[in-house]
Amino acid sequence: MAFNLSAVSLTTLLLLASCSPFVFGGSEASSSYSSSSHHHLVKGLSWSFYEYECPKLESIVRKHLKKVFKEDIGQAAGLLRVHFHDCFVQGCDGSVLLEGSATRPSEQEAPPNLSLRATAFEIINDLRALVHKECGRVVSCADITALAARDSVYLSGGPEYDVPLGRRDSLTFATTNVTLDNLPAPTNNASVILTSLARKKFDATDVVALSGGHTIGRSHCTSFEKRLYPTQDPTMDTDFASDLKVICPTTNSTNTAVLDIRTPNKFDNKYYVDLVHRQGLFTSDQDLYTDERTRDIVESFAHDQNLFFEKFVSAMIKMGQLSVLTGGKGEIRANCSVRNSDNLDLASVVEEDLETAAELR
Ligand code: HEM
Repeated sequence: MAFNLSAVSLTTLLLLASCSPFVFGGSEASSSYSSSSHHHLVKGLSWSFYEYECPKLESIVRKHLKKVFKEDIGQAAGLLRVHFHDCFVQGCDGSVLLEGSATRPSEQEAPPNLSLRATAFEIINDLRALVHKECGRVVSCADITALAARDSVYLSGGPEYDVPLGRRDSLTFATTNVTLDNLPAPTNNASVILTSLARKKFDATDVVALSGGHTIGRSHCTSFEKRLYPTQDPTMDTDFASDLKVICPTTNSTNTAVLDIRTPNKFDNKYYVDLVHRQGLFTSDQDLYTDERTRDIVESFAHDQNLFFEKFVSAMIKMGQLSVLTGGKGEIRANCSVRNSDNLDLASVVEEDLETAAELR
């Protein structure tokens, strides 16, 4: 067996995981899943949406993110998660990027979003500024977020794939209750996750593939401490649990642990190898191996990285099209964190938007 943990102590693995330099550059060898023809597109999105209005869009995003990840590959995980949280709540409409006001808390302030990285929002706004400088205000923040997620996967060693474009940015954000209702919790078991994602038309293969996003990034102890205290979750590998207790010595620790102990910064199929060894961090991860409906899928991805990449790409393309705003709906924000009508520097732009909306009717 390739991963004999009796030979390599888990502590060593965890230490290596937390200190390892970022994995970068393997991406050139990673597989390409650019064939767009067999993926279904919702009306209003296209594979070549900005071909004439912003032909350099994808190269600008790629180039900037390469630079960002060279400094800190952890940012890739942060960006991937933002796209997921954007799409699952009210659709991929940039609503998670909006800041709230004194009177109305934003999606960002809802509990599952509190652990999104603030730097991810900054990176998205930096990308927007670069893109708008080149092309004017034509590319939505929701599209920039989707492209940033794709490049996060690819530049961490994962598959390369085309992203349908043409999303518009929302004028509103969801309430805390709607946010909570749409984002599953790490304490959920596979039944709850399967039911929750079935509402968005994801099947068991999609669920297992999307969960593979946890092949990169980190979690705060508070997201999994119930598996350690007061009693240890019996489905967790005991050495793994002991090592996690070192990282999270008490409840409410502010420390973080990596999501995939084998290759925490590399987008690969090792997350599934972790699950097979009962070293998944969350109940929502580990139970995919316990539940009979998903166990075989986990095993197949653990054995075949190409199969995982293929299913991940198709699930991501599906996720990236959830309830998108297209055509004359929504707007193209001039600042991803505020809608144009609240943007004090932007009165003329809002008027221009109203004219465009009128033309589109
Ligand atoms: C299936 C249900 C899911 C649950 C319950 C879940 C839950 C979580 C939790 C609790 C964290 C750690 C937050 C923290 O404490 O800092 C996390 C991190 C993360 N999640 Fe998920 N997640 C799910 C699905 C996904 C999907 C579909 C993706 C992307 C395709 C994804 C990508 C990530 C990434 C990349 C991180 C690391 C973020 C970072 O390092 O900043 N997750 N997730």
